Amino acid sequence: MKPIKVAMLGCGTVGTQVARLLTDQADDFAARIGAPVELTGIAVRRPNKHREVPAELLTTDADSLVESDVDIVVEVIGGIEPVRSLLLKALRAGKSVVTANKALLAEHGPELYAAADASGADIYFEAAVAGAIPLLRPLRESLAGDRITRVMGIVNGTTNYILSAMSATGAGYGETLEEASRLGYAEADPTADVDGFDAASKAAILASLAFHTRVTAGDVHREGISAVTSADIAAARALGRTVKLLAICERVSDDDGVESVAVRVHPAMIPNSHPLASVGGAFNAVFVEADAAGQLMFYGQGAGGAPTASAVLGDLVAVARNMVAGGRGPRESAYADLPVRPMGQA
Ligand code: NDP
Ligand code: HSE
Repeated sequence: MKPIKVAMLGCGTVGTQVARLLTDQADDFAARIGAPVELTGIAVRRPNKHREVPAELLTTDADSLVESDVDIVVEVIGGIEPVRSLLLKALRAGKSVVTANKALLAEHGPELYAAADASGADIYFEAAVAGAIPLLRPLRESLAGDRITRVMGIVNGTTNYILSAMSATGAGYGETLEEASRLGYAEADPTADVDGFDAASKAAILASLAFHTRVTAGDVHREGISAVTSADIAAARALGRTVKLLAICERVSDDDGVESVAVRVHPAMIPNSHPLASVGGAFNAVFVEADAAGQLMFYGQGAGGAPTASAVLGDLVAVARNMVAGGRGPRESAYADLPVRPMGQA
């Protein structure tokens, strides 16, 4: 079978681990997919910085790499542009996309999903929410036959790392944020984490998938943790509670029984007896409630290079298998028309 050619955009915390695992386990990937996978190029900004990958793979010309003879584009740069344009170009040319980019999907997901549908390409994005935890695939596929009523949990590793450290050791906010950045958990601009933008993007993606509607980050009521003080944490402890940043996506009904979707992100004091209270470090945990399935809990590493690479590579295998089988994965452009409750009414 001829090799499946993969271009990667970005080689930072996540991309370095994707390249390493793809290279180290090349034979396993070929066996699992039914065809070898060939990494043909990696787009970065500063090629001289990247000693961890073969120099001949590196390029600063992401446009030409996307236009080259590749089957799948893996995007681990982050942010909106130039990534949106690069991925639209790939999808319009029929090249499937794997991305970890929640900010992009929360703003421009529908545009990308429509481009994928038009050309018959796949777009997979498991790593965009909750790191290594298989969560989006269950929402897109396993639970597609159920009626989900609520998705709720901890979806940002950096803020959970900060709140856990402040609570356990009394460590200061600033020093813990620096540590989270050093460990590769935080976004390039960590205000995305601490001000709740990252969790809001993830909540928008979760709500869109769970309720088959279109929720953008701007629809999410958002409050981060930058105003949470050591005194707040001590007060919570005195009450037998723990402070966590929660994302809550709910199907709600008004007095006339008209349904809509309400999505919010904010710090909350939860009882120490609640399972979310013991989720420490950069771990994430998400509860899903559905009519037939009842309550499900998803738990695992929510950030970091290797855990996120696991999700990216799972998507890569899925897309490559679809190619080998001559099929494609789930489509996201067919939405029901469930309205989103305006912010402030959540
Ligand atoms: P990093 O900042 O570590 O890496 C970004 C990479 O993108 C770098 O290699 C950088 O190149 C490259 N890059 C930036 N701009 C350009 C450009 N214009 N053209 C080509 N390359 C460019 O980010 P992460 O690896 O941490 O995150 C990547 C994505 O994964 C983001 O969308 C993030 O939200 C998401 N994600 C991250 C997780 C994590 O735990 N870190 C977890 C889940 C998702 P250079 O190195 O040369 O500067
Ligand atoms: N900065 C993000 C977090 C990375 O801390 O959760 C994982 O999406």
